[in-house]
Amino acid sequence: MIIDTHAHYDDKAFDEDRAELLQSMQGAGVERIVNIGSSLGACKRTIQLMEQYDFVYGALGIHPTDSGELTESDIEWIRENCALEKCVAVGEIGLDYYWDEPDRAIQRKWFVRQLALAREVKLPVVIHSRDAAQDTVDIMKAENARDLGGVVHCYSYSKELAKTFLDMGFYFGIGGVVTFGNGRKLKEVVEYLPLDRMVLETDSPYLAPVPFRGKRNDSRKLTHVVEQIAQIKGISLEEVQKTTTRNAYNLYPKLK
Ligand code: NI
Repeated sequence: MIIDTHAHYDDKAFDEDRAELLQSMQGAGVERIVNIGSSLGACKRTIQLMEQYDFVYGALGIHPTDSGELTESDIEWIRENCALEKCVAVGEIGLDYYWDEPDRAIQRKWFVRQLALAREVKLPVVIHSRDAAQDTVDIMKAENARDLGGVVHCYSYSKELAKTFLDMGFYFGIGGVVTFGNGRKLKEVVEYLPLDRMVLETDSPYLAPVPFRGKRNDSRKLTHVVEQIAQIKGISLEEVQKTTTRNAYNLYPKLK
């Protein structure tokens, strides 16, 4: 059994067959799914999915590219809902300088604010960081993110920088990119990382692994990511599944 630690089943890409698809998950070996909030609307839909499906848990937070209109009363709403039994983390939060929208200063402000929120509600964080390595590390250090714990989702930086996040006690979300022909940098990172710091994630509906690259992703396709990690590490599929599943429960202590 495997755990998808990062998915967006609230996305409209699933509107046509969401129920059917989610009902097929446990039969296909997917034990738990953590649906990740990215906007206020997505957080509300995440709560609905948590209520509808036993095996779906959630994280609540605002993605940097959605932080432009955020207000303190929105943060208060998230804070209240973090108390829900099945809310396992604050996220996804962070910095995205690839899209560079909204303004970097605004992204930084809400990243800092949501790290503080995680501290208030005593939950780990799900970090989104793209083309913003230095500022991400600087802010995480300044805010003592080490005490919060969490995961760097869709890790896209170097092996060298991976050590910095390892030293902060963070997990690494590994998904479809590791199967890509041009995913050499991530393959090196996976080779370097201890298995007990990796968790599986899809980022569904995005980042489907080969041979589905470019198509809609879903958690059942994680078997291809498991195969790739097993091959890189020279270990069995069972060991990858067993260890990443245990890691997911350690990463999100409220996940049951
Ligand atoms: Ni995501």
